[in-house]
Amino acid sequence: MIKYGLIGAGMMGQEHLANLNLIDGAEIAAIADPDQGSLNGARAMMQNHAHHPVTYYDQYQEMVARENCDAIILATPNHTHFQIVRDLAHLETAILIEKPVCTTMADAQALVMLEETASCRLAVGLEYRYMPPLTQFINRAHAGEAGPVRMLSIREHRFPFLPKVDNWNRFNENTGGTLVEKCCHFFDLMRHILRDEPVRVYASGAQDVNHLDETYDGRTPDIIDNAFVVVDFRGGARAILDLCMYAEGSEQQEVIHVVGAQGKLEVSIPGADVTWSPRDKSGPFVEHVDTPEKAMLAGQHHGATYFQLQAFHQAVTAGEPFPITVEDGIRSLEMGIAAHRSLATGQAVSLPLEDTPYRT
Ligand SMILES: NC(=O)c1ccc[n+]([C@@H]2O[C@H](COP(=O)([O-])OP(=O)(O)OC[C@H]3O[C@@H](n4cnc5c(N)ncnc54)[C@H](O)[C@@H]3O)[C@@H](O)[C@H]2O)c1
Repeated sequence: MIKYGLIGAGMMGQEHLANLNLIDGAEIAAIADPDQGSLNGARAMMQNHAHHPVTYYDQYQEMVARENCDAIILATPNHTHFQIVRDLAHLETAILIEKPVCTTMADAQALVMLEETASCRLAVGLEYRYMPPLTQFINRAHAGEAGPVRMLSIREHRFPFLPKVDNWNRFNENTGGTLVEKCCHFFDLMRHILRDEPVRVYASGAQDVNHLDETYDGRTPDIIDNAFVVVDFRGGARAILDLCMYAEGSEQQEVIHVVGAQGKLEVSIPGADVTWSPRDKSGPFVEHVDTPEKAMLAGQHHGATYFQLQAFHQAVTAGEPFPITVEDGIRSLEMGIAAHRSLATGQAVSLPLEDTPYRT
């Protein structure tokens, strides 16, 4: 058995619990959250599933002092990730940090230094790669079906940010900004699909529709709700992110294309179709990719949380590194920060950033 602790039992923390409950050999031993509503939600979920006692804590410091967890899931608000990881660095445990790994380049630099001396092993929850239709799309793109990919387009048309505990996600200072908070997933997908690093980012976007009629302690939320982000990659491929967060009527939330000299490959979520359209016009050929029902029902992310946790659990069990690293987390963060700097200046921003921990 691998003994798990959870820090942060809100929406995503509870999704982790639901999925860990499906994984053989995963025992959730302890859960920490200062918010009683979140702890009660976690308790209700564990009552239906747990075959062993779970201990609940208000403070994660007390949890880690009393429990000896093999693995910890960190699902607290974005701006708390770095400080909590710093507090846990002395533990001999594996930590899955929810995305974004942190929210500033200063914390990213400090995290890289911390990891060099830490006793804990770190992994980052950039889980979109694990949605079964997307995994299949990526495998087919990597197999070269479309030819070397020259163009990649990611369209995310979805509902506005949901309410969160203490409304932390309404302000850039807590989230890192929309292009970090939400879009680190898509920047990670760009790097993963293209197997390359970005050299230039240009972004245009604004807060045009959402949250403008809300106030918290006299402040109106400052998070953008739409953007186009163009990214040039070192090898010459180019990518675009088309983000709209007031498109809840959209049939497909994500539509991703790669195009190369042989043709176009496309995937849609939730449609779960991978469509191949060769240039000879013999297509389109549609493959529907099913996701197991238990994984679909255990979360809001088309099975991604289940398959990510399965991979994490396997890595912890085998004592091997998790495929998604702190470097992946920081590079996706850096792309989001570069996009926000581009929004602020109206200019394209070169990568790597001056304040990155990675010079190449
Ligand atoms: N992988 C994904 O697709 C995905 C989806 C949603 C959220 N997330 C990430 O998960 C994290 C949590 O988001 P959420 O949607 O669950 O937010 P949430 O507000 O629903 O839950 C956050 C919880 O963390 C708790 N918390 C705050 N400070 C804490 C501390 N010091 N110790 C313990 N608990 C603390 C809060 O009380 C709250 O219960 C964020 O980093 C978010 O970006 C990832």
